[in-house]
Amino acid sequence: MAILKVARMGHPVLRMVAEPVPPELIPTAEFQRFCDDLLDTMHEYDGAGLAAPQVHESIRVCVLELSAERGPEFLINPVITVLGDETRRYYEGCLSVTDLRAAVDRPAHIRLEALGRDGEPKHYELKGFAAIVTQHECDHLDGVLFIDRCDTTTLAFLDEYRRWGPLDELVDGDIEDDDGDEEDAEALGWDELPSEFTEDAELEPTEVMQ
Ligand code: NI
Repeated sequence: MAILKVARMGHPVLRMVAEPVPPELIPTAEFQRFCDDLLDTMHEYDGAGLAAPQVHESIRVCVLELSAERGPEFLINPVITVLGDETRRYYEGCLSVTDLRAAVDRPAHIRLEALGRDGEPKHYELKGFAAIVTQHECDHLDGVLFIDRCDTTTLAFLDEYRRWGPLDELVDGDIEDDDGDEEDAEALGWDELPSEFTEDAELEPTEVMQ
């Protein structure tokens, strides 16, 4: 077990397009150890996902864990196809962009093709939170951060976000109508999502690619 150092915004590795993983590399002890370390690092920092460039490895690998019941999902060389026009707004944060939150609108329904850490092809249709987290992590493989896609009028430091809640709700005057406390604001945050948003995580294998 090893906890890897997390790259922070400003490090060039976060802005590079990561290299595909040669499938023959997947079964090697070195690659499997990297997968273990990536997962350990995600757990250490309570992330819902972590991408290899965030630990200074510019390769197309990420891991997600949307609920404890489902466990971790490794995505190697993932390819996303957007399905439909619907979008969902979540407040996102990132282990590489510490102490910031902002609202990001992303497609709500996607198809995902990837190799698992066993090297087997996987094919999913994802909706809701699962689709959002997957897009956030896959963006890292293309050198894209959530702040590139966010509604910049909602950008907030984490402590101010916890104090005031989501800014778009504040603008709409809704914040007073909520319970208004820290918990509500946090329920929309990224850090707390694995448990809070389980109901939204529709991660259903639709078919196995051959
Ligand atoms: Ni991130």
